[in-house]
Amino acid sequence: NPRRARPQVGDGLAYMTGEKEGQQITLADLKVGGPPVLAYPMDVSTQTVRDGARTNLLALVKVAPEELPEKLRADAADGVLAFSAICTHYGCPITETHPTGGKLVCNCHGSTFDVLKNGEVVAGPATRRLAHLPLKQAGSALLVAGNFAGPLGPPQQ
Ligand code: FES
Repeated sequence: NPRRARPQVGDGLAYMTGEKEGQQITLADLKVGGPPVLAYPMDVSTQTVRDGARTNLLALVKVAPEELPEKLRADAADGVLAFSAICTHYGCPITETHPTGGKLVCNCHGSTFDVLKNGEVVAGPATRRLAHLPLKQAGSALLVAGNFAGPLGPPQQ
């Protein structure tokens, strides 16, 4: 079932919600310091959004080029990074950025993850980093460039 498949190399990214739900996200849609854009991977040839697996949900954030760490540079597209948006504490969707920037915050219990440190936990209760998903740029489009760099969601109990 293509809707339940993991993100595939070459997939585009589609809005999870809002008036553009299901539409493909372009680089111009992301702003440095803006809130995370929640997205699912999408097979662009068939316009199939891979929303059949909750762990496919992504939080896209744009980082200023000078802030982008060397290690994440190859996996960013014009400063845009994609992280798993499923909190590693109890699995809430991650919908906020910290006002100081560069961090993703889970509203359920306040876990905070540093996007500039590869999703590392900077405030609990979560104990495991958020995995990122490598991206690449193709013209104005954002495309998936690889597999998630780590486990998704809360550790199995
Ligand atoms: Fe995210 Fe608890 S589910 S902090």
